[in-house]
This record gives sequence, structure tokens and C-alpha cells, in this order.
Amino acid sequence: MGKLAITGGAPLRKASFPGWPTSTEAEADTLNDVLTSTKWGGQPFPGKHSLAFAKKFAELHTAKYAQCVNTGTVAIQASLKAIGIRPGDEVVVPAYTWEGTVGPVLLVNAVPVFVDIDPDTYCLDAKQIEKAITPKTKAILPVHLGMRFADMDEILRIAARHKLKVIEDCAHAHGGMWNGKGAGSMGDLGAFSFQSSKLMTCGEGGAVITNHLEYFELVQSYINAGRASVTDQFKKRIIGFNYRLGEFQAAILGPQLDRLPTQSAVREKNMKHFESRMQNTPAIGLLKPDPRITRLAPYGYVIKYFAGKARDIPRASFVAALQLEGVPCDGLFYEPVYKSSLFPVDSGDFPALSWGREKPLDLRTLFSCPEAEKAAYQEAIWFPHQNFLGRAEDTDAMADAIHKILENLEELRGLDHPAIRNQKLGRADRES
Ligand SMILES: Cc1ncc(COP(=O)(O)O)c(C=O)c1O
Repeated sequence: MGKLAITGGAPLRKASFPGWPTSTEAEADTLNDVLTSTKWGGQPFPGKHSLAFAKKFAELHTAKYAQCVNTGTVAIQASLKAIGIRPGDEVVVPAYTWEGTVGPVLLVNAVPVFVDIDPDTYCLDAKQIEKAITPKTKAILPVHLGMRFADMDEILRIAARHKLKVIEDCAHAHGGMWNGKGAGSMGDLGAFSFQSSKLMTCGEGGAVITNHLEYFELVQSYINAGRASVTDQFKKRIIGFNYRLGEFQAAILGPQLDRLPTQSAVREKNMKHFESRMQNTPAIGLLKPDPRITRLAPYGYVIKYFAGKARDIPRASFVAALQLEGVPCDGLFYEPVYKSSLFPVDSGDFPALSWGREKPLDLRTLFSCPEAEKAAYQEAIWFPHQNFLGRAEDTDAMADAIHKILENLEELRGLDHPAIRNQKLGRADRES
């Protein structure tokens, strides 16, 4: 029996961390309001709760317009339609992100072009975008990942130089600000998710924000079965679908948004404390702070684990040990999308991959993004944002558990354990 919980010792942390999502009476009241209103769906369009929420959500992110949709994936898809992405167009995407960033590009029969991430932020590396641009490139789709922003200053400069559109994937960035501008308001459109794990949630849902009335109108038509938008100034008609958000879900978003600033402040305070405990910890690195992030969106907290400085104990063993000490965390949280088991692209389904070529593009083997692969398979450790919703003691327990494992690394050498085996699998392939 060792000292570490994974080798039979007592776990450092026995109490559970705060759960997620949270709700109060406010959600019960708004849900009841919908229930008794008989207007449960997204029609009449837009619904009362959806409209009221969208207005506040746009304001928080310094955008003129916001439209609720039924998922974050659809928010990206609708944004691609709004900027006029057509079959065969190319869209630059980061290699390290959730598959839902990239799927919509294929769905509109465009071609995703993966670009590596900046190791300082784990976000799309702006320095590498230009070499991926071809005459077919029409847009850049940066993701503000974890708790950092992609370098929007540089991305907007590149977009202007090459006449490209920009869609910000803000699934992790609710409430975040860059140089005083809200996440999603700097590009042509910003796409948010309200799926259960997000900083604010209604179970499943999403929103698109923009400063352009034309795009706002097109998004409305696209998600409302092609009907004219509420303002219909641009008189554009496109095929649309029912991607509306129901009113029960919209009703939850109001109270979630009201609590976001307080909850984010708690998370940020605890993250700073955790950071101070992690400074100068051997084998652990932090993502670089950026003064241009003027309001933090404290989603997943990401640290780097350097096995080479930890007696070559692989990350899977370290993370599994940390989990058994009672700390929720994950190593293989994201993979480079082109390597993920959730990206089994069949070129027969996406004709643009074959156009003008002898052989269809094989998106799974075409790209090599070493920084994304290093983050995914060796270095990144993600802590869910709710770990930071409690008190300083909780964050101390996380830091203490990390130190405990680093002091007892030899117990992990050659160890086989179901939690370690599980950590070697991508999220979609795990048992639980
Ligand atoms: C970075 C990123 N982009 C897009 C999405 C898609 O959002 P949804 O799951 O709501 O479709 C998610 C979340 O799941 C995400 O984390």
C-alpha cells in the first residue's frame, strides 16, 4: 500500500467539489411562467424569454444583436451561413478544440483547414494563419479556448489584409472581454454554447451575436425555417431550418446570466489563489496571462504537465492519480480534431473534399499540428470551472493533491489501474 490514493493510500480530498449546473428559485419562477403561458416553443418568434435574454446577452458582450439558437454547434453553422460560406470555400480552424467547432464547416460543404495552436494560450496561433490561406479561404474561426483568447488583434489584421470574415467560437468565453470588447463582438459574428458544462447553461442551447444587422437577419431566417427576420431590411431569403430555442430553455438563461458575474468573480479569485500555489511547482506550467484580456471568462482552468520533469511518469498516470485523490480533472479533454474518433470523415458525405482533385482530401492525415498534439496527448490538464466555485480550501486541496503526487511519483511507475487506462482514451471512448 502506498501513500497515493491510487496505490491504496487515503485520498487527500474526501469532500466533493461544487456541482454544476446550479439553479435557484429564479429559474423555478421563470420556468413556471413559461408553463402557464402556453407559449412553450420558439414561436411566436422570437419568444418572450428568448428576446429578453438576447438583449441582455448582446449588451454584456458589447454587441448590437443577439439571437438564441438551439445549440452552440448550430450557432457556428448559422454564422457560416450568414457570412455566405459556400460549398468548396475554405475556413481556417484551430486543431485543438471540440469537434463541434469544425463539424458545421463540413455541414455547409466547406473545407476546414487546421492550423496549430499557440503553446502560450492553446488557442489558434495567429502567426501560422497566413501560410494556410489560399484563394479559396473565406473565413477564420478562432476559438477562445479554456480561459484564454485567441489573438484577436492579429487575427482581425490578417482578416482585413486578405478580405476574410471572422467567426469567434465563444463556447468557453461567456462574459469575457478583450481590450474592453466583448467576446464574439470583434469578428463578424460570435457563437456561444449553453450546453450543460458551460459557464452558463440551459441544458442545451446557443446564441449568435453580431454588430451587423444583415447577419442578424440572415441568422434569424436560417434558424426559423427560412421565414423573414423581424426587421427584414435586407430582404434576403435563404433556405432555413427549425433551430429555434424553446422558451423553457430561454427562461433558464435569464437567471443564469444574472448570476454569471458573481460566479465568475468567485472562480477568478479562486483561480488566482490556485495559480499562486502552482507558481514554481516543478513539472507544472501555466498558460501565459495576457493583459489584453480585460475580463476573464473563467471556464476550464488549464495547466501544463511536463512528464520530462516528473521522472517520465506519463500524464495519464498523473491525472488518474489526481482524480483518485478526489480532484475532478481531465488530461485527454480535447484531441486535435483531425485525430479524434469523433471525426470519422467520409469524403463521400462531403463532396467539396473531392472537387478539382484526383483523390479526395483526407482530413485525418493531411495535417500535422505538433503543438496541438503535445497539448492533447502529453501536457494539458483541464480542471472544470466548478472546482473553483467554492472556497479557497477547495483550491488548496487541488494544489496539495498535485504536490502530494509529485512527492510520490515513484508509486506510479509501471502502475496499471482502470483510471489510468481510461485516461489514455479520448472522452468519447471511455467507459463512463
Ligand atoms: C469550443 C466549443 N465549440 C463548440 C461547441 C458546441 O456547442 P454545443 O455542444 O452547444 O453544440 C462546444 C461545446 O460543446 C465547444 O466547447
